[in-house]
Amino acid sequence: MFDRHTERSGSSSLKWDKYKGKDVLPMWVADMDFRSPEPVIQALQERADHGVFGYTLPDKELVDTVVRYLKTQHGFCIEPNWLVWLPGLVPALNLTCRAFPGDVATFTPVYPPFLTAPDYAGCTCHCSSLVPSGNHWAINWEDLEAGITDETTILMLCNPHNPVGKVFSRNELERLGDIAQRNDLIICSDEIHCDLILEPDQKHIPTATISPEVAARTIALYAPSKTYNLPGLSCAFAVIPNTRVRHTFKQTIRGIITEVNAFGFAGCRAAYQFGEPWRQDLITQLRANRDFLYRFIETHCPEIKLLPMEATYLAWIDVTALKLDDPVKWFEDHGLGLSDGKFFGQPGYVRINFGCPFDTLKAGCDRLSRGVQAARSLL
Ligand SMILES: Cc1ncc(COP(=O)(O)O)c(C=O)c1O
Repeated sequence: MFDRHTERSGSSSLKWDKYKGKDVLPMWVADMDFRSPEPVIQALQERADHGVFGYTLPDKELVDTVVRYLKTQHGFCIEPNWLVWLPGLVPALNLTCRAFPGDVATFTPVYPPFLTAPDYAGCTCHCSSLVPSGNHWAINWEDLEAGITDETTILMLCNPHNPVGKVFSRNELERLGDIAQRNDLIICSDEIHCDLILEPDQKHIPTATISPEVAARTIALYAPSKTYNLPGLSCAFAVIPNTRVRHTFKQTIRGIITEVNAFGFAGCRAAYQFGEPWRQDLITQLRANRDFLYRFIETHCPEIKLLPMEATYLAWIDVTALKLDDPVKWFEDHGLGLSDGKFFGQPGYVRINFGCPFDTLKAGCDRLSRGVQAARSLL
């Protein structure tokens, strides 16, 4: 299932059409090259066959499905009225900054909209660097706390973390919850990658399940889009347990945020109802891809570094040793399209997306190695 190639060039794909007509293998933006689960495709076909595409509401079956999914997959018990449907998580990040004006604290490197959302809202962002510590990325607690001032209103958290693939532990979440309590912060918890944990002994812990006090200050963000490869359907949701926080958020989205479209709802329902066997197989494939990438880099490109990652299909690679002025351009010139660390707040790194058939990954690794060898010869 996951070794099947689907031609994406010419399908209006952001990822593939960026390099249309060029010999550059796209392994950048975060969507996968896999077909979605068959029951999802079938549900979308059935919805299309209906032929009428009027304004659409999330029906009771969908809401019940989401409530059940959060409880069974993640032990997060929610009330249906805590849900706020959205066409994406990025709007939610931006809306949160506008709904709770003030400065933002977050960790870098991070998914670029975490950095642009405060900026667009006219807020200052204090970025605390995650630091390599032994075999993993750790929080610099002193630095985080030192950056939080009376002006800070929001702690933006990406868990599991894009791009370093970190899964925050209960201990870390409790400590973050405590910091949010002491400083009266909203926690905007982007959990879009929560179903993509690759380490068998790791588990996603929703921030809001840490304690009722933490739940009361959390805006948790989810979508089926990363896991089931549906980002083009624009369907996401926030879970906001506290009435006042939810009210403030909803006031801000009035007249700005549109209804989710009929296909988004249909895809979401089918993914959460029927997608689990496919997801299990996906995790097996992603684990194999990740482990191949580790081994490949270790064997063929030892000067570039990749710390072990626990989740997502995105790997964060330190290429500073190659001393390249523009690493992304360099690798594009060697046939590989990557994401640029500078937009994540960490220049000198690149992000590679290994959510693709194994053959594609192997071809991408060969191009990576070609680029590394060429850079090595100039050192
Ligand atoms: C952490 C994170 N949040 C949000 C998004 C995008 O969300 P959406 O497409 O729903 O706006 C991504 C996409 O890569 C992501 O990695």
